[in-house]
Amino acid sequence: MEKIVIIGEEPLQGTIEISGSKNASLPLMAASILTDETVVLKNIPNLADIHTMASVLESLGVNCNKSDLINKNIIQLNYQGSDKALAEYDLVRKMRASILVLGPLLARKRKATVSMPGGCAIGARPVNIHVDALAKLGGEFNLEKGYIKCEAKSGLKGAKIELPMISVGATENIIMAASLAKGETEISNIATEPEIIDLIDCLKSMGAQIEVQSDRKVLIQGVESLNGTTHSVIPDRIEAGTYIIAGLITKGELQIKNVNFDHIANLLSVFENLELNITRENNNLIVKESSVSKNISLDTKEYPGFPTDLQAQIMVLLSLSKNASTIRENIFENRFMHVPELNRMGADININGSQATINPCNGFSGAQVMATDLRASVSLVLASLIAKGETTINRVYHLDRGYENLENKLAGCGANIKRIQ
Ligand code: EPZ
Repeated sequence: MEKIVIIGEEPLQGTIEISGSKNASLPLMAASILTDETVVLKNIPNLADIHTMASVLESLGVNCNKSDLINKNIIQLNYQGSDKALAEYDLVRKMRASILVLGPLLARKRKATVSMPGGCAIGARPVNIHVDALAKLGGEFNLEKGYIKCEAKSGLKGAKIELPMISVGATENIIMAASLAKGETEISNIATEPEIIDLIDCLKSMGAQIEVQSDRKVLIQGVESLNGTTHSVIPDRIEAGTYIIAGLITKGELQIKNVNFDHIANLLSVFENLELNITRENNNLIVKESSVSKNISLDTKEYPGFPTDLQAQIMVLLSLSKNASTIRENIFENRFMHVPELNRMGADININGSQATINPCNGFSGAQVMATDLRASVSLVLASLIAKGETTINRVYHLDRGYENLENKLAGCGANIKRIQ
Protein backbone atom coordinates (compact mmCIF):
# COMPACT_ATOMS: atom_id res chain seq x y z
CA MET A 1 0.00 0.00 0.00
CA GLU A 2 1.49 3.35 -1.01
CA LYS A 3 1.94 6.14 1.52
CA ILE A 4 2.85 9.81 1.34
CA VAL A 5 5.39 11.22 3.81
CA ILE A 6 5.52 14.97 4.39
CA ILE A 7 7.91 16.96 6.57
CA GLY A 8 6.02 20.15 7.42
CA GLU A 9 6.85 23.85 7.81
CA GLU A 10 8.59 24.27 4.45
CA PRO A 11 7.61 27.50 2.66
CA LEU A 12 5.87 27.09 -0.71
CA GLN A 13 7.37 29.30 -3.40
CA GLY A 14 6.58 28.91 -7.08
CA THR A 15 3.89 28.21 -9.64
CA ILE A 16 1.15 25.57 -9.64
CA GLU A 17 -0.78 24.85 -12.85
CA ILE A 18 -4.37 23.73 -12.33
CA SER A 19 -5.34 20.61 -14.31
CA GLY A 20 -8.58 19.87 -16.14
CA SER A 21 -11.67 19.22 -14.03
CA LYS A 22 -12.22 15.62 -12.94
CA ASN A 23 -15.93 16.23 -12.41
CA ALA A 24 -16.33 17.72 -15.88
CA SER A 25 -14.24 15.00 -17.56
CA LEU A 26 -16.28 12.05 -16.28
CA PRO A 27 -19.69 13.01 -17.77
CA LEU A 28 -17.94 14.24 -20.94
CA MET A 29 -16.41 10.79 -21.39
CA ALA A 30 -19.82 9.15 -20.86
CA ALA A 31 -21.27 11.47 -23.53
CA SER A 32 -19.16 9.64 -26.14
CA ILE A 33 -21.82 6.91 -26.06
CA LEU A 34 -24.29 9.37 -27.61
CA THR A 35 -22.58 9.41 -31.02
CA ASP A 36 -20.91 6.93 -33.40
CA GLU A 37 -18.31 9.53 -34.33
CA THR A 38 -15.08 10.25 -32.47
CA VAL A 39 -15.11 12.52 -29.42
CA VAL A 40 -11.74 14.13 -28.68
CA LEU A 41 -11.40 15.53 -25.15
CA LYS A 42 -8.48 17.83 -24.29
CA ASN A 43 -7.15 19.01 -20.91
CA ILE A 44 -8.27 15.70 -19.38
CA PRO A 45 -6.41 15.15 -16.07
CA ASN A 46 -4.43 11.90 -15.81
CA LEU A 47 -6.25 10.53 -12.74
CA ALA A 48 -7.31 7.12 -11.48
CA ASP A 49 -11.00 8.03 -11.95
CA ILE A 50 -10.39 8.82 -15.62
CA HIS A 51 -8.85 5.37 -16.13
CA THR A 52 -11.76 3.78 -14.26
CA MET A 53 -14.31 5.57 -16.46
CA ALA A 54 -12.32 4.48 -19.54
CA SER A 55 -12.49 0.86 -18.32
CA VAL A 56 -16.25 1.13 -17.79
CA LEU A 57 -16.70 2.59 -21.27
CA GLU A 58 -14.45 -0.05 -22.84
CA SER A 59 -16.54 -2.76 -21.15
CA LEU A 60 -19.51 -1.22 -23.00
CA GLY A 61 -17.77 -1.28 -26.37
CA VAL A 62 -16.38 2.27 -26.46
CA ASN A 63 -12.93 2.48 -28.04
CA CYS A 64 -10.86 4.62 -25.63
CA ASN A 65 -7.53 5.84 -27.00
CA LYS A 66 -5.48 7.00 -24.00
CA SER A 67 -2.09 7.09 -25.79
CA ASP A 68 -1.92 10.88 -25.47
CA LEU A 69 -3.35 11.11 -21.95
CA ILE A 70 -0.12 11.17 -19.94
CA ASN A 71 1.87 13.54 -22.18
CA LYS A 72 -0.86 15.66 -23.73
CA ASN A 73 -3.92 15.18 -21.50
CA ILE A 74 -5.93 14.11 -24.57
CA ILE A 75 -8.29 11.14 -24.78
CA GLN A 76 -10.14 9.99 -27.89
CA LEU A 77 -13.39 8.04 -27.57
CA ASN A 78 -15.40 6.26 -30.23
CA TYR A 79 -18.55 4.21 -29.74
CA GLN A 80 -19.79 2.35 -32.79
CA GLY A 81 -22.58 0.73 -30.81
CA SER A 82 -22.23 -2.75 -29.38
CA ASP A 83 -24.49 -5.41 -27.97
CA LYS A 84 -22.74 -4.96 -24.61
CA ALA A 85 -24.86 -2.77 -22.34
CA LEU A 86 -23.76 -4.05 -18.93
CA ALA A 87 -21.66 -1.93 -16.54
CA GLU A 88 -20.27 -4.52 -14.11
CA TYR A 89 -20.32 -4.19 -10.32
CA ASP A 90 -16.55 -4.54 -9.83
CA LEU A 91 -15.98 -1.51 -12.04
CA VAL A 92 -18.92 0.61 -10.89
CA ARG A 93 -18.17 0.07 -7.18
CA LYS A 94 -14.76 1.71 -7.72
CA MET A 95 -16.34 4.92 -8.86
CA ARG A 96 -19.92 6.08 -8.38
CA ALA A 97 -19.73 8.35 -11.39
CA SER A 98 -20.02 5.19 -13.52
CA ILE A 99 -23.77 5.71 -13.13
CA LEU A 100 -23.35 8.45 -15.77
CA VAL A 101 -23.38 5.81 -18.52
CA LEU A 102 -27.02 5.01 -17.70
CA GLY A 103 -28.67 7.94 -19.50
CA PRO A 104 -26.48 7.76 -22.63
CA LEU A 105 -26.92 3.97 -22.94
CA LEU A 106 -30.69 4.20 -22.56
CA ALA A 107 -30.83 6.96 -25.17
CA ARG A 108 -28.54 5.26 -27.68
CA LYS A 109 -29.13 1.53 -27.07
CA ARG A 110 -32.64 1.73 -25.64
CA LYS A 111 -31.43 -0.56 -22.84
CA ALA A 112 -28.84 -0.63 -20.07
CA THR A 113 -27.84 -2.70 -17.08
CA VAL A 114 -25.73 -0.76 -14.62
CA SER A 115 -24.69 -1.92 -11.19
CA MET A 116 -26.09 0.12 -8.34
CA PRO A 117 -23.06 2.24 -7.39
CA GLY A 118 -23.56 1.60 -3.71
CA GLY A 119 -22.62 4.04 -1.03
CA CYS A 120 -19.22 5.36 -0.24
CA ALA A 121 -17.49 6.88 2.78
CA ILE A 122 -19.33 10.18 2.57
CA GLY A 123 -22.84 8.84 2.31
CA ALA A 124 -25.43 6.40 0.97
CA ARG A 125 -25.34 8.18 -2.41
CA PRO A 126 -28.66 6.82 -3.77
CA VAL A 127 -29.56 7.18 -7.45
CA ASN A 128 -33.34 7.37 -7.12
CA ILE A 129 -33.47 10.81 -8.75
CA HIS A 130 -31.55 9.52 -11.80
CA VAL A 131 -33.93 6.54 -12.16
CA ASP A 132 -37.18 8.47 -11.60
CA ALA A 133 -36.19 11.18 -14.09
CA LEU A 134 -35.13 8.71 -16.79
CA ALA A 135 -38.40 6.80 -16.22
CA LYS A 136 -40.27 10.00 -17.10
CA LEU A 137 -38.52 9.92 -20.50
CA GLY A 138 -39.87 6.41 -21.05
CA GLY A 139 -37.29 4.20 -19.38
CA GLU A 140 -38.74 1.06 -17.80
CA PHE A 141 -36.70 0.13 -14.75
CA ASN A 142 -36.33 -2.80 -12.45
CA LEU A 143 -33.72 -3.38 -9.81
CA GLU A 144 -32.48 -6.92 -9.35
CA LYS A 145 -29.44 -8.44 -7.66
CA GLY A 146 -27.91 -5.01 -7.13
CA TYR A 147 -28.26 -4.04 -10.78
CA ILE A 148 -30.39 -1.34 -12.40
CA LYS A 149 -31.94 -2.88 -15.50
CA CYS A 150 -33.73 -0.53 -17.83
CA GLU A 151 -35.05 -0.39 -21.35
CA ALA A 152 -37.07 1.88 -23.62
CA LYS A 153 -38.33 -0.36 -26.43
CA SER A 154 -39.82 2.49 -28.46
CA GLY A 155 -37.05 4.93 -27.59
CA LEU A 156 -37.12 7.89 -25.21
CA LYS A 157 -39.74 10.64 -25.49
CA GLY A 158 -39.40 14.22 -24.29
CA ALA A 159 -41.17 15.10 -21.04
CA LYS A 160 -41.58 17.83 -18.44
CA ILE A 161 -39.44 16.86 -15.45
CA GLU A 162 -39.12 18.55 -12.07
CA LEU A 163 -36.14 17.17 -10.17
CA PRO A 164 -37.16 16.71 -6.50
CA MET A 165 -33.75 17.90 -5.26
CA ILE A 166 -30.68 19.41 -6.88
CA SER A 167 -28.39 16.60 -8.00
CA VAL A 168 -25.27 17.06 -10.16
CA GLY A 169 -25.17 13.49 -11.49
CA ALA A 170 -28.91 13.19 -12.08
CA THR A 171 -28.89 16.50 -13.98
CA GLU A 172 -26.05 15.22 -16.18
CA ASN A 173 -27.70 11.84 -16.81
CA ILE A 174 -31.07 13.27 -17.76
CA ILE A 175 -29.65 16.02 -20.00
CA MET A 176 -27.56 13.49 -21.93
CA ALA A 177 -30.55 11.15 -22.35
CA ALA A 178 -32.96 13.94 -23.34
CA SER A 179 -30.55 15.12 -26.06
CA LEU A 180 -31.59 12.08 -28.14
CA ALA A 181 -35.22 11.75 -26.92
CA LYS A 182 -38.06 12.45 -29.37
CA GLY A 183 -39.52 15.91 -28.86
CA GLU A 184 -39.03 18.52 -26.18
CA THR A 185 -37.86 17.97 -22.61
CA GLU A 186 -38.10 20.64 -19.95
CA ILE A 187 -36.17 19.94 -16.77
CA SER A 188 -36.50 22.18 -13.72
CA ASN A 189 -34.53 22.37 -10.47
CA ILE A 190 -31.31 21.39 -12.25
CA ALA A 191 -27.86 21.68 -10.73
CA THR A 192 -25.84 24.45 -12.39
CA GLU A 193 -22.26 23.53 -11.50
CA PRO A 194 -19.67 24.70 -14.09
CA GLU A 195 -19.05 21.02 -14.88
CA ILE A 196 -22.68 20.74 -16.04
CA ILE A 197 -22.40 23.85 -18.20
CA ASP A 198 -19.20 22.39 -19.69
CA LEU A 199 -21.10 19.18 -20.53
CA ILE A 200 -23.92 21.20 -22.14
CA ASP A 201 -21.39 23.21 -24.19
CA CYS A 202 -19.85 19.96 -25.41
CA LEU A 203 -23.25 18.38 -26.22
CA LYS A 204 -24.21 21.52 -28.19
CA SER A 205 -20.95 21.25 -30.14
CA MET A 206 -22.12 17.70 -31.01
CA GLY A 207 -25.39 19.09 -32.36
CA ALA A 208 -27.61 18.85 -29.27
CA GLN A 209 -30.27 21.55 -28.95
CA ILE A 210 -30.11 22.68 -25.34
CA GLU A 211 -31.14 26.02 -23.90
CA VAL A 212 -30.30 26.79 -20.27
CA GLN A 213 -32.79 29.23 -18.73
CA SER A 214 -32.21 31.41 -15.71
CA ASP A 215 -34.18 29.76 -12.91
CA ARG A 216 -32.46 26.34 -12.82
CA LYS A 217 -34.45 25.30 -15.90
CA VAL A 218 -33.24 23.74 -19.17
CA LEU A 219 -35.09 23.15 -22.44
CA ILE A 220 -33.92 20.36 -24.76
CA GLN A 221 -35.17 19.61 -28.28
CA GLY A 222 -34.21 15.99 -28.95
CA VAL A 223 -32.32 15.27 -32.19
CA GLU A 224 -32.00 12.11 -34.28
CA SER A 225 -28.26 11.76 -33.76
CA LEU A 226 -25.22 13.62 -32.51
CA ASN A 227 -21.86 14.21 -34.19
CA GLY A 228 -18.37 13.83 -32.86
CA THR A 229 -16.49 16.86 -31.51
CA THR A 230 -13.28 18.13 -30.02
CA HIS A 231 -13.77 19.73 -26.62
CA SER A 232 -11.37 21.17 -24.06
CA VAL A 233 -12.30 20.50 -20.43
CA ILE A 234 -12.61 23.43 -17.98
CA PRO A 235 -10.01 23.81 -15.20
CA ASP A 236 -10.68 22.02 -11.91
CA ARG A 237 -12.15 24.61 -9.52
CA ILE A 238 -11.83 22.24 -6.54
CA GLU A 239 -8.15 21.61 -7.23
CA ALA A 240 -7.70 25.38 -7.58
CA GLY A 241 -9.41 25.98 -4.22
CA THR A 242 -7.24 23.33 -2.62
CA TYR A 243 -3.98 24.92 -3.77
CA ILE A 244 -5.19 28.42 -2.89
CA ILE A 245 -5.63 27.17 0.68
CA ALA A 246 -2.17 25.57 0.52
CA GLY A 247 -0.74 28.98 -0.40
CA LEU A 248 -2.67 30.77 2.34
CA ILE A 249 -1.52 28.49 5.18
CA THR A 250 2.15 28.05 4.24
CA LYS A 251 4.99 30.57 4.25
CA GLY A 252 6.03 31.92 0.88
CA GLU A 253 4.10 32.88 -2.22
CA LEU A 254 2.25 30.66 -4.73
CA GLN A 255 1.28 31.64 -8.25
CA ILE A 256 -1.71 29.58 -9.34
CA LYS A 257 -2.27 29.33 -13.10
CA ASN A 258 -5.19 28.14 -15.32
CA VAL A 259 -7.90 29.39 -12.97
CA ASN A 260 -11.40 30.16 -14.23
CA PHE A 261 -12.35 33.06 -11.99
CA ASP A 262 -16.08 32.81 -12.67
CA HIS A 263 -16.08 29.25 -11.34
CA ILE A 264 -14.43 30.20 -8.04
CA ALA A 265 -16.15 33.56 -7.46
CA ASN A 266 -18.02 32.14 -4.44
CA LEU A 267 -14.81 30.82 -2.97
CA LEU A 268 -12.88 34.06 -3.51
CA SER A 269 -15.67 36.02 -1.78
CA VAL A 270 -15.30 33.82 1.30
CA PHE A 271 -11.54 34.48 1.31
CA GLU A 272 -12.15 38.22 0.81
CA ASN A 273 -14.46 38.25 3.85
CA LEU A 274 -11.60 36.68 5.80
CA GLU A 275 -9.29 39.44 4.49
CA LEU A 276 -6.70 36.97 3.20
CA ASN A 277 -3.72 37.68 1.01
CA ILE A 278 -4.90 36.80 -2.50
CA THR A 279 -4.42 39.00 -5.54
CA ARG A 280 -5.35 38.49 -9.17
CA GLU A 281 -2.66 39.00 -11.80
CA ASN A 282 -4.15 38.62 -15.32
CA ASN A 283 -5.38 35.04 -15.38
CA ASN A 284 -3.39 33.90 -12.40
CA LEU A 285 -3.74 34.17 -8.64
CA ILE A 286 -0.95 35.23 -6.29
CA VAL A 287 -1.49 33.71 -2.85
CA LYS A 288 0.60 34.50 0.23
CA GLU A 289 0.67 33.26 3.80
CA SER A 290 -2.20 34.91 5.64
CA SER A 291 -3.05 35.19 9.31
CA VAL A 292 -6.71 34.40 9.80
CA SER A 293 -8.14 36.61 12.50
CA LYS A 294 -11.80 36.80 11.51
CA ASN A 295 -14.29 33.99 11.88
CA ILE A 296 -17.12 32.83 9.64
CA SER A 297 -20.09 30.51 9.67
CA LEU A 298 -20.16 28.67 6.38
CA ASP A 299 -22.82 26.49 4.77
CA THR A 300 -21.92 24.07 1.98
CA LYS A 301 -24.43 24.51 -0.82
CA GLU A 302 -25.12 23.59 -4.39
CA TYR A 303 -23.38 25.87 -6.90
CA PRO A 304 -22.98 28.83 -6.75
CA GLY A 305 -22.79 28.28 -2.98
CA PHE A 306 -19.67 27.15 -1.13
CA PRO A 307 -18.73 23.71 -2.53
CA THR A 308 -18.94 20.64 -0.28
CA ASP A 309 -15.79 19.39 -2.06
CA LEU A 310 -13.78 22.16 -0.35
CA GLN A 311 -15.27 21.73 3.12
CA ALA A 312 -12.48 19.51 4.44
CA GLN A 313 -9.80 21.76 3.02
CA ILE A 314 -11.09 25.06 4.40
CA MET A 315 -11.32 23.46 7.85
CA VAL A 316 -7.51 23.41 7.93
CA LEU A 317 -7.38 27.12 7.14
CA LEU A 318 -10.05 27.97 9.73
CA SER A 319 -8.17 25.96 12.36
CA LEU A 320 -5.44 28.62 12.19
CA SER A 321 -7.87 31.44 13.01
CA LYS A 322 -7.80 33.25 16.35
CA ASN A 323 -11.60 32.91 16.50
CA ALA A 324 -13.90 29.90 16.24
CA SER A 325 -15.78 29.34 12.97
CA THR A 326 -18.57 26.93 12.05
CA ILE A 327 -19.25 24.90 8.90
CA ARG A 328 -22.59 23.21 8.23
CA GLU A 329 -22.38 20.33 5.73
CA ASN A 330 -25.70 20.40 3.89
CA ILE A 331 -25.00 18.13 0.92
CA PHE A 332 -23.74 14.82 2.31
CA GLU A 333 -24.76 13.07 5.50
CA ASN A 334 -21.35 11.84 6.55
CA ARG A 335 -18.64 14.11 5.29
CA PHE A 336 -16.65 14.81 8.46
CA MET A 337 -14.36 11.76 8.47
CA HIS A 338 -11.32 14.01 8.16
CA VAL A 339 -12.14 15.65 11.51
CA PRO A 340 -10.82 12.91 13.87
CA GLU A 341 -7.63 12.74 11.78
CA LEU A 342 -7.17 16.52 11.82
CA ASN A 343 -7.80 16.54 15.58
CA ARG A 344 -5.10 13.89 15.99
CA MET A 345 -2.75 16.36 14.29
CA GLY A 346 -3.68 19.12 16.74
CA ALA A 347 -6.88 20.67 15.44
CA ASP A 348 -9.74 21.33 17.85
CA ILE A 349 -12.89 20.66 15.83
CA ASN A 350 -16.18 19.58 17.39
CA ILE A 351 -18.99 17.96 15.45
CA ASN A 352 -22.63 18.36 16.37
CA GLY A 353 -24.82 16.66 13.76
CA SER A 354 -24.19 18.38 10.44
CA GLN A 355 -22.37 21.30 12.04
CA ALA A 356 -18.64 21.49 12.78
CA THR A 357 -17.16 24.09 15.11
CA ILE A 358 -13.54 24.85 14.31
CA ASN A 359 -11.88 26.27 17.43
CA PRO A 360 -8.51 28.01 17.48
CA CYS A 361 -5.67 25.53 18.00
CA ASN A 362 -1.92 25.73 18.58
CA GLY A 363 -1.04 24.55 15.09
CA PHE A 364 -0.55 21.02 13.81
CA SER A 365 2.01 18.34 14.55
CA GLY A 366 2.89 15.42 12.30
CA ALA A 367 1.27 12.01 12.83
CA GLN A 368 0.35 8.73 11.11
CA VAL A 369 -3.04 9.46 9.53
CA MET A 370 -5.54 7.62 7.36
CA ALA A 371 -7.16 8.96 4.21
CA THR A 372 -10.85 8.05 3.88
CA ASP A 373 -12.16 9.87 0.84
CA LEU A 374 -10.76 12.05 -1.86
CA ARG A 375 -11.23 15.46 -0.29
CA ALA A 376 -10.60 14.31 3.29
CA SER A 377 -7.23 12.98 2.11
CA VAL A 378 -6.13 16.28 0.68
CA SER A 379 -7.09 18.13 3.88
CA LEU A 380 -4.58 15.87 5.64
CA VAL A 381 -1.96 16.85 3.07
CA LEU A 382 -2.68 20.53 3.75
CA ALA A 383 -2.36 20.04 7.51
CA SER A 384 0.88 18.07 6.98
CA LEU A 385 2.42 20.96 5.02
CA ILE A 386 2.28 23.20 8.13
CA ALA A 387 2.62 20.50 10.82
CA LYS A 388 5.73 20.28 13.02
CA GLY A 389 7.62 17.12 12.07
CA GLU A 390 6.70 14.19 9.84
CA THR A 391 3.27 13.04 8.71
CA THR A 392 2.59 9.73 6.99
CA ILE A 393 -0.68 9.52 5.08
CA ASN A 394 -1.92 6.00 4.40
CA ARG A 395 -4.33 4.86 1.63
CA VAL A 396 -3.18 7.57 -0.75
CA TYR A 397 -5.10 5.94 -3.60
CA HIS A 398 -7.89 8.30 -2.56
CA LEU A 399 -5.66 11.23 -3.53
CA ASP A 400 -4.77 9.71 -6.90
CA ARG A 401 -8.46 9.77 -7.79
CA GLY A 402 -8.65 13.53 -7.88
CA TYR A 403 -5.28 15.30 -7.79
CA GLU A 404 -3.03 15.02 -10.83
CA ASN A 405 0.70 15.00 -9.98
CA LEU A 406 0.04 16.16 -6.43
CA GLU A 407 3.51 15.45 -5.06
CA ASN A 408 5.29 16.94 -8.09
CA LYS A 409 3.18 20.10 -7.98
CA LEU A 410 3.91 20.61 -4.28
CA ALA A 411 7.56 19.44 -4.36
CA GLY A 412 8.07 21.76 -7.33
CA CYS A 413 7.29 24.64 -4.96
CA GLY A 414 9.56 23.42 -2.17
CA ALA A 415 7.38 21.06 -0.14
CA ASN A 416 9.18 18.12 1.47
CA ILE A 417 6.83 15.42 0.20
CA LYS A 418 7.47 11.94 -1.14
CA ARG A 419 5.55 8.80 -1.94
CA ILE A 420 6.78 5.48 -0.47
CA GLN A 421 5.63 1.91 -1.08
C1 EPZ B 1 -21.08 15.15 -7.69
O1 EPZ B 1 -21.51 13.94 -7.06
C2 EPZ B 1 -19.57 15.18 -7.57
N1 EPZ B 1 -19.00 14.02 -8.28
C3 EPZ B 1 -19.15 15.15 -6.10
O2 EPZ B 1 -17.73 15.26 -6.06
C4 EPZ B 1 -19.77 16.38 -5.43
O3 EPZ B 1 -19.43 16.34 -4.05
C5 EPZ B 1 -21.29 16.34 -5.59
O4 EPZ B 1 -21.62 16.30 -7.01
C6 EPZ B 1 -21.97 17.57 -4.99
O5 EPZ B 1 -21.45 18.72 -5.57
C7 EPZ B 1 -18.89 14.09 -9.63
O6 EPZ B 1 -19.25 15.07 -10.26
C8 EPZ B 1 -18.27 12.90 -10.30
P1 EPZ B 1 -25.30 14.83 -6.15
P2 EPZ B 1 -23.05 13.45 -7.23
O7 EPZ B 1 -26.11 13.89 -6.97
O8 EPZ B 1 -23.54 13.76 -8.58
C9 EPZ B 1 -28.29 13.05 -2.95
C10 EPZ B 1 -15.58 14.66 -5.43
O9 EPZ B 1 -14.99 14.73 -4.34
N2 EPZ B 1 -28.86 12.28 -4.07
O10 EPZ B 1 -25.35 16.30 -6.47
O11 EPZ B 1 -23.11 12.04 -6.75
C11 EPZ B 1 -26.87 12.62 -2.62
O12 EPZ B 1 -26.89 11.50 -1.76
C12 EPZ B 1 -17.00 14.15 -5.49
O13 EPZ B 1 -15.08 15.00 -6.54
C13 EPZ B 1 -30.01 11.50 -3.83
O14 EPZ B 1 -30.53 11.46 -2.71
O15 EPZ B 1 -23.77 14.39 -6.16
C14 EPZ B 1 -26.29 13.85 -1.97
O16 EPZ B 1 -26.66 13.87 -0.61
C15 EPZ B 1 -17.51 13.72 -4.14
N3 EPZ B 1 -30.53 10.78 -4.85
C16 EPZ B 1 -26.98 15.00 -2.71
O17 EPZ B 1 -28.12 14.42 -3.37
C17 EPZ B 1 -29.97 10.79 -6.12
O18 EPZ B 1 -30.51 10.11 -7.03
C18 EPZ B 1 -26.12 15.63 -3.79
O19 EPZ B 1 -25.67 14.58 -4.61
C19 EPZ B 1 -28.82 11.58 -6.33
C20 EPZ B 1 -28.29 12.32 -5.30
